[in-house]
Amino acid sequence: MHYFPQTAALAAFLILFAVAMLPDPATAQQARPAAFAVCAGCHSTQAGKTVFGPSLAGIGGRRAGTLEGYAYSPALKSSGLTWNAKTLDRWLTAPKKMVPGTKMPFNGIQDRATRNQVIAYLLKL
Ligand code: HEC
Repeated sequence: MHYFPQTAALAAFLILFAVAMLPDPATAQQARPAAFAVCAGCHSTQAGKTVFGPSLAGIGGRRAGTLEGYAYSPALKSSGLTWNAKTLDRWLTAPKKMVPGTKMPFNGIQDRATRNQVIAYLLKL
C-alpha cells in the first residue's frame, strides 16, 4: 500500500473542520440559559403554543396579559404593564409581589446574574 501525504493532510483538515463545527457550549448556553428550564415547564417559546402559562414568543414589548386566547388572571390583565428589561426584572424577582393575584405559581429567581441571563434570552424570543 502506498502512503499519500495529501490524503493524511485532507483527513486532518476534515477532522479539524468537524470539530470547529460542533456547537460551542458557551454559545448554546447563551441561546437558552439553564435557568430557563424551570420556565419551560410552563411556557413554550413557540408562538401560539400554550403549555400551562402563555407562550413567551415575542414577549419583549408585549403588554402583559394580552396574548389572544390565553385565560390570564384578572390581576395580570389589568396590570397595565409592558414587558421590557425593567419590568421583567421586577417580575422575575418576585412575581406575586409585583402583581398580587397573578396565577403564575413561581417564587422568582433571586440571583441577579441568573435573572439577567433569562431576561436577555426572553428579549430575543
Ligand atoms: C408553574 C408554572 C410557571 C412557571 C414555572 C413559570 N411561569 Fe410564567 N406564567 C405562568 C402562568 C400561569 C402565567 C399567567 C399568569 C397570570 O395570568 O396571572 C405566567 C405568566 C408569565 C409572563 C407574563 C406573560 C404575558 O403574556 O403577559 C411572563 C413574562 C412569564 N410568565 C415568564 C416566566 C419566566 C421567565 C419563568 C421562569 C423564570 C416563568 N414564567 C416560570 C406559569 C409559570
